[in-house]
Parts: sequence; structure tokens; C-alpha cells
Amino acid sequence: MRISVIGCGHLGAPHAAAMADLGHDVIGVELDPDMCRTLRSGHSPFYEKGLDALLATHVPSGRLRFTTDLAEAAAFADLHFIAVGTPLDADGQGYDMGQVIGAVRSLAPLLTRPCTVVGKSTVTVGTVARLERILAEQAVAGVDLVWNPEFLREGHAVEDTLYPDRIVAGLSSAEAQKAIEAVYAPILARGDAELIVTDPATAEVLKSAANSFLATKISFINAMAEVCALSGADVKAVAHGIGIDHRIGHAGMRPGIGYGGGCLPKDVRAFAHRMGEIGATGAATLLQAVEGVNHGRVDAAVTLVEEAFGGPLAGARIAFLGAAFKAGTSDIRNSPALALAGRLRAEGARPVVFDPEAVHSARRAHPEHAYADTLEEALAGADVTVIATEWPQFSEDAGLPATAARTVAARQLVDIRTVVDPLDWTVAGWTVRQLGRPVRRPQA
Ligand SMILES: NC(=O)c1ccc[n+]([C@@H]2O[C@H](COP(=O)([O-])OP(=O)(O)OC[C@H]3O[C@@H](n4cnc5c(N)ncnc54)[C@H](O)[C@@H]3O)[C@@H](O)[C@H]2O)c1
Repeated sequence: MRISVIGCGHLGAPHAAAMADLGHDVIGVELDPDMCRTLRSGHSPFYEKGLDALLATHVPSGRLRFTTDLAEAAAFADLHFIAVGTPLDADGQGYDMGQVIGAVRSLAPLLTRPCTVVGKSTVTVGTVARLERILAEQAVAGVDLVWNPEFLREGHAVEDTLYPDRIVAGLSSAEAQKAIEAVYAPILARGDAELIVTDPATAEVLKSAANSFLATKISFINAMAEVCALSGADVKAVAHGIGIDHRIGHAGMRPGIGYGGGCLPKDVRAFAHRMGEIGATGAATLLQAVEGVNHGRVDAAVTLVEEAFGGPLAGARIAFLGAAFKAGTSDIRNSPALALAGRLRAEGARPVVFDPEAVHSARRAHPEHAYADTLEEALAGADVTVIATEWPQFSEDAGLPATAARTVAARQLVDIRTVVDPLDWTVAGWTVRQLGRPVRRPQA
């Protein structure tokens, strides 16, 4: 099929590349000229595993191209994916729907033949109905609108787009269903992804509910970490023990500094706000509590760093390992790691930030921090080492307990992602602190 992907950020660029990999002819539209230029050269503007390889294959072959010109995409494609951003609005409550509304308003007058518009952005419940009115006002005929929310995990965007566990399509016509079945035909033919065909409102709620549930699970185990910290219990053992029950499960049960990134924080906030607006007070209250637990995690992490330093942090040199909101991406949007680095600075500490992929984006967005270009540089002379993003380079498997021990000033580790095995560190002389777990001291 000839398709377009409008908005080529963290969702849209992997989606465009994956659609080309499925065999479609794809045009990506990206308003940001720098990003468009980078994509056009066959490179990704951000780190996402597998994306560079797909771009390097499909851009030179001509199957995938990028433009800033929406008219070119309208003339070319029979199916248009909308993958523009939905950040929070100026009040920080609901979504700013400007990019979605703007994209559809600009596209509508350019559509001169029957086609399908497929929304992938995460939107406020009621958006499809609003967009249908816009298309009707502009007297656009023969356009089917589908809401097809995306469930990919950043850091696995390419893999999750090519091998999704489900495809949700909120639609209201047989033609729209045919278009969705055609664009995803190679995936559906494998039989391992469930196609859920529903009405648009259900598709909108389903996506918000999915992210809200993930956030709830994370906040639940982090609330248990708070309980464990106050009762001398070990939250990791609690998570393991409760997760054996298949109704609970182990996925998403790793305690730590909480959720961040370009999706969960805004999606939970906007969904809670909307639930309040429509009078779903139970859902709104639940999600507000989820957010409250999440916000409290940075304070809990600051306390651990203070304990590791042995008092107020003025002058403390911190090896701060991680800036991305999670491993596998260079995305620093709402990064809990950088929120903690900011708090440590405010307390007078000197964090030196190193991240294998996100150091450039972090440097641009947060020039106030000191950055290291290598792990060794970050560790040299540190009073406290903080693992703030769960990159494999920071684990005992990479031999870090022994190598880092030679260069830090004090063997004090704070692991706010609960990723290390304390035993491997304590035998190398480290004291290890993790949220909701007893302190582990060096082995004699
Ligand atoms: N990032 C993810 O992993 C992910 C996963 C699932 C859903 N989503 C949802 O997908 C949407 C996009 O998220 P993102 O993380 O890719 O955001 P993003 O900010 O990284 O990308 C959006 C891009 O759209 C571009 N854009 C805006 N208006 C445009 C227009 N009219 N024409 C062409 N380009 C335009 C922007 O320049 C930007 O590069 C959001 O609603 C998000 O909630 C994201």
C-alpha cells in the first residue's frame, strides 16, 4: 500500500520504518526540518534499537522517504497514519490537542480521493467524534477515520511495531476495517497478534486504561517499597512472592524511582483529569493516588543518597549513571533520573551525569549539570555512585563493582532502579542501598 506517517517522532519514525519493512511504500511527514533532514539521510534523530538499521535499508531503496510537505503525502498515500504529539496543555492537566487537530485540519483540504486516516496518537476520549466533525465541516468525502492506538514500549519500538501483541482499531465502517486489515496483513497473517475491532470511543479508552494500569502497578509496588522501608522488610522479596500469583504476575513489579518518559506521566495525568471532568470520580481518585506515589519517589531517593553520603549533600561528588527515562532509549522526557539529578544539585551535591545514549539530549536540555563522556570519568573520585537508569553497562555483569571500586572515593552505591545484585557489590567492598530494601554492607 502507499501510506503516509504524519509526525515522525519517537512513535512515528519507528512506525514509518516498520511499515516500509512490511512491504509498503511509505512517506513520512515531519515538520521539524532538522529531524526530517536526519531521517532523510537514513539515520535516526534519537536512539531506538533497530531503527537505524531499518532506515539504512529502506531509505536508500526508495521504499521510505521523508518530507516536510504534507501536500506531497496527501497526493501520494491512500492511508495516512497520524502520529503527532499530544503533550499536556499549558495547565499541565489535559492534553494539548493542537498537533492532532492541526494535522487533520491541514490534511483534510488536500484529500482529493477516498482514503483512510488512522490516528495512532494517544488522545482524549471524544477526539474521534471531534475529528469527524472537522472532516464534515470541511466537506471531505470518502474519508474513513480509524483510531488505532499504539502500545509499543520505547526502547523496543521497532520490535513491538513489527511484532505487536494486539492491534486495536476503533472504526465505524466495513471499508475502514478492510484498510486496517490490508495495512497490517503481514502481521495478521502470522496469527500471533489479536485484532480487536471496536468503536472509536472504546479504542480511545482502551489505550488510556492500558497506560493507567501499567502506572498503577508501578505505583503499587513503590507504595509497598515505602511500607518495607519503614518496617525493615525487603520489597524485592515481596514483589517476587506476590507476583507468583498469576492474577498479579511479575511484569512491571520492579520497585524503583517510578515511571517517567513521554507517555505514562502525561497519559495518567490527562486521563485522571478527563475522568474528573466526566464525573468518573472513582477512576480520577485512583489515578491521582497513583501519581502521588510516583511523585514521592524522588524524595525517597534523595534520602538514600544522603544516607550513603552520611549527611547533608553539600559538596558531595556523585557519579550519576543514567539520564534516559529508561534503558534502551535516548528519550529524557520526564526522566526520573534527571529529576533526581536536579534535586541532588539543589541540595548542594555535584552530580556528574553519564549515559551511554542520552548524554547528548540531556546536555542540550539540562546544561546546568556536569556531564562525563565516559563511565570512568563519571566515577573518578565519587563519594556516592547512583545507578539512575538500568543500562546493562552499569550492572555487575559488566564487571563494574571491581572496576569502579578502584576509582571512586567511597564505595557507596545507591541503586534507584533495583537492578543490581547487592551480593556482587558487597563482596567488592560496596555498601548498597535500594528503595524498600535493607542496606547491604561490605562482606568481611
Ligand atoms: N513514544 C512512544 O513510545 C509512544 C507510544 C505509544 C503512543 N505514543 C503516542 O504517540 C504520540 C506521539 O508521541 P511521540 O513520543 O512520538 O511524540 P514526539 O514529540 O516524539 O513526536 C511527534 C512529532 O510530530 C511532529 N509533528 C507535529 N505536528 C506535525 C504535523 N502537522 N506534521 C508533521 N509532523 C508534525 C513533531 O515535530 C514531532 O517530531 C503521542 O500521542 C504519544 O502519547 C507514543
